Amino acid sequence: MSNTFTKNILCIGAGYVGGPTMAVIAEHCPEYRVTVADINAQRIEAWNSDELPIYEPGLKELVLRNRGKNLFYTTDIPSAVREADIIFVSVNTPTKTFGSGAGKASDLQFLERTARQIVECSESGKIVVEKSTLPVRTAQALSRVLQANTKGLKFRIVSNPEFLAEGTAIHDLESPDRVLIGGTSDEGGQAAVEEIAEIYTHWVQKDKIITTSLWSSELTKLVANAFLAQRISSINSISALCEKTGADVDQVSQAIGLDQRIGAKFLRAGIGFGGSCFKKDILNLVYLCEHYGLNEVAQYWESVVNINDYQARRFVEKMVDAMFNTVTDKRIAILGFAFKANTGDTRETPALAVCQQLLAEKANLAICDPKALVNAKNDLCDALGNVEFTADPYQACKGAHAVVILTDWPEFQTLDYQRILDNLQKPAFLFDGRNCLNHEALFQMGYNVFPIGKPAQAHFAP
Ligand code: UDX
Ligand code: ADP
Repeated sequence: MSNTFTKNILCIGAGYVGGPTMAVIAEHCPEYRVTVADINAQRIEAWNSDELPIYEPGLKELVLRNRGKNLFYTTDIPSAVREADIIFVSVNTPTKTFGSGAGKASDLQFLERTARQIVECSESGKIVVEKSTLPVRTAQALSRVLQANTKGLKFRIVSNPEFLAEGTAIHDLESPDRVLIGGTSDEGGQAAVEEIAEIYTHWVQKDKIITTSLWSSELTKLVANAFLAQRISSINSISALCEKTGADVDQVSQAIGLDQRIGAKFLRAGIGFGGSCFKKDILNLVYLCEHYGLNEVAQYWESVVNINDYQARRFVEKMVDAMFNTVTDKRIAILGFAFKANTGDTRETPALAVCQQLLAEKANLAICDPKALVNAKNDLCDALGNVEFTADPYQACKGAHAVVILTDWPEFQTLDYQRILDNLQKPAFLFDGRNCLNHEALFQMGYNVFPIGKPAQAHFAP
């Protein structure tokens, strides 16, 4: 079968990065055979079914259109490796929880295992592409494992970090701001970079495909995420000051965002950033700086994570303070648990920190999310106390003392808030952790409204 295709592309790791990326490559490169492999059989089974393992707008249509034609999912990693010309590696690289670098450095055990498996199963040289987010100089380690093969095989390492954001993955892959490809400067390294660039030229303009050294490419991925997260922590730090001074953080961010040098994006104040990348990448950067003795630089970036933790903590403290200094035994409706809208992903979601802190205060929670309930149940499986999960926001809010918005799902903006109010305990509290509702209208309706970084609107003196 493989000889009808001009090239065999394999992706090891069928997750949030590998899954969508390979579906888009398969769509645009019908002459290539694209295989996605994973050790997790359940995941692969799901990719081969009608219930894909991840939710991403537009992904299912793409998969259904190409699966079985030039897009395949398998657990047979040895055969897939043997047949591949190019191997993208997008296995998970979580933060280490043990040993040296615990809490900051990346755990590279899955990556090294993959490299060893590539060596073991290969019968010809290959281009190995780093797709997972990795610490700088991982390519060197990867290269050493691959080149140590005793079969005389030549492997080329290329770094091609992924900048897609969840919820808009297909759009980001179809129309990327840039594609970054890093390689070694020798002839073979440059040829490998060209070969990877050729894949993207099927649908991306040539001037958007940037080539750099391996180390610049690896570092760029960390720095891009650190800069984005830094903007969120910056505006969130200002939201605390706004609450004290009576200023409105949305007005501030809109006004500063009109300065073209600053720009308008990623200045939305809220309960903080989540997702699998921001915290992990910043901690990686911090670890790297500490490793090289750049302690001031390490502290500078670590403060971005510290402000993020502070923002979620501050939000719960504000809730407790507003609700007469106790939430014990009070039912609290949590609308939204995913780390952002349009995804079922809850990795590093600030909603978890908020819920855990509320549970520590002995509140009873009713959690509602359109896509993230399965993950939310897993995340809170060890939680002590009373937690209810429901897909129905009206059920979650029934009899509650407070409604809390933790994810900016568009559907929460169009709920019947009068109906919700009629079934709430009074005084009725609404805490908008994403500043996504019409606060004035809710206040007029009878809610006591507590946004982020704006004066509260209460019917009693707060
Ligand atoms: C991010 C990067 O955007 C992407 O380029 C990289 O490849 C992976 O990490 P992602 O984590 O999917 O993508 O989501 P993103 O849209 O960046 O949002 C991250 C978090 O920041 C979310 O929790 C979101 O709610 C929060 N956020 C974002 C804000 O609080 N305010 C903003 O203004 C923007
Ligand atoms: P990301 O968000 O970076 O895509 P995910 O956790 O969603 O991360 O996906 C990573 C995938 O990599 C998981 O499905 C996991 O089972 C898979 N994986 C981890 N180690 C290996 C390995 N050695 N071989 C194949 N797949 C692996």
